[in-house]
Amino acid sequence: MMVENNELERLYQAISWRKSVRKYRPEPLAPEVLQEVRRVACATTALDDSLAVAFSVVSPHQIKGLVSAKSPHYLALYAKGGLESLTNAAFRLQQMDLWFSAQGYGSCWLGMPNMTQELAACDGLPFVVMLAFGAPAEEAKRGSLAEFKRKALPAISTLPEADGLLEALRLAPSASNRQPWKVTGDATTLRLHIKQDGFVGKRLFGAMRYSDAGIALCHLWLSAVHAGTFAAINREVSPPDTPEGYDYFYSVALEP
Ligand SMILES: Cc1cc2nc3c(=O)[nH]c(=O)nc-3n(C[C@H](O)[C@H](O)[C@H](O)COP(=O)(O)O)c2cc1C
Repeated sequence: MMVENNELERLYQAISWRKSVRKYRPEPLAPEVLQEVRRVACATTALDDSLAVAFSVVSPHQIKGLVSAKSPHYLALYAKGGLESLTNAAFRLQQMDLWFSAQGYGSCWLGMPNMTQELAACDGLPFVVMLAFGAPAEEAKRGSLAEFKRKALPAISTLPEADGLLEALRLAPSASNRQPWKVTGDATTLRLHIKQDGFVGKRLFGAMRYSDAGIALCHLWLSAVHAGTFAAINREVSPPDTPEGYDYFYSVALEP
């Protein structure tokens, strides 16, 4: 399981240098490495263990559509629809994005391409999204925080006192780098909200806001574990103060 704190700390450290890698060496990785990728993916931490996901390592010929990151390998993610299921699935896949980075491999989320018929479903679950991964053929790490193109903290949070914890969220990747998140709350609860899509956004990005939400929660979770203040992630029934134009997703409870 990826639950030991030193492994989570390794993933946390990768947040400050990870980047999307879109150029890969053409030679396939060794079969033992691909086996390890499958093992680690299955061992990622879930938001809720009752929500099913499946992972599959696939090859370029099994993918349909334009692929902006050509690699010998892709890690495809499968899950049912719905807010909880898709957010949980992305929460797990982001652990893999950070794991690839921590291992010295490259990776890149790919929301646009689709699967061929034979891989449209896995274990009875539909395909959602995938990560390209492999040996990088370009620099796979950022040299400094200045290389991140991101919003400033006040644009994504109403909690200046939590800036230390929220920096990991600020650096998180998102579809088209839209950074659709906003955090409200107080010293013991961080509430994650995701911007609603307009008509065009819905057509262009579909379910990708759930991926963005899962990624955001993964970074908030690792940040709170790093700070020694993580208590739980839950969905409140009547969350207060959801900003206009946003939907409430989850809360991260913190130890005082
Ligand atoms: C859900 C999701 C879908 C994405 N889809 C694509 C894609 O189809 N093609 C692509 O080149 N990058 C894709 N990206 C990568 C983003 O463009 C990238 O994460 C963002 O621009 C931030 O850059 P960084 O990852 O280098 O920090 C996707 C990212 C996410 C989170």
